[in-house]
Amino acid sequence: MNLEEIINITENKKKYLELLLLGDEKEEMIDRYLERGDMYVLKTPLGMALCVVTDEGDGVLELKNIAVEPVCQKKGYGRRLIRFICQKYKNQFHTLQAGTGDSPLTVPFYEHCGFIRGSVIPHFFMDHYDHPIYEGGKQLDDMIYFQLKL
Ligand SMILES: CC(C)(COP(=O)(O)OP(=O)(O)OC[C@H]1O[C@@H](n2cnc3c(N)ncnc32)[C@H](O)[C@@H]1OP(=O)(O)O)[C@@H](O)C(=O)NCCC(=O)NCCS
Repeated sequence: MNLEEIINITENKKKYLELLLLGDEKEEMIDRYLERGDMYVLKTPLGMALCVVTDEGDGVLELKNIAVEPVCQKKGYGRRLIRFICQKYKNQFHTLQAGTGDSPLTVPFYEHCGFIRGSVIPHFFMDHYDHPIYEGGKQLDDMIYFQLKL
């Protein structure tokens, strides 16, 4: 796999809404960062993966969305996107951060990619979503920020 297969999407980002919703199930939340974010799509022979990053100021880049089509999950494509982002932004930012629920489906991914557990926003999911969200059988409540030094 080479870098050319990762495409910067600058127009019609909503064309990828289905995949964006896999990473962040509330469209209203996606709308808050999609236009100002840099979006990348990785096309694989099996399916697609994408991510969106935003400049949060003070040298912090935030991974707002990362999603790999179910058919090609656990094949290294999520990690591939993280590595790509690190390479591309390491001279402009000192930290890549990602907020996630305390989910058995996402926390191991960030930890395996080298992120370190950081601050917590208590009850973020209970407060911002109008229905309970379950992942891997666990209801999401707090938001945990994971950080990776670039
Ligand atoms: C989370 C997600 C992006 C991970 O992408 P992926 O391509 O499946 O992950 P990778 O294959 O690159 O995995 C990288 C490492 O994380 C580990 N990992 C990934 N998901 C894991 C899981 N659910 N449980 C345990 N380990 C996991 C892999 O084993 C691998 O580790 P290793 O190479 O050291 O063995 C993908 O599962 C996804 O799109 N999920 C749905 C959307 C989502 O939840 N997005 C995140 C929102 S915060």
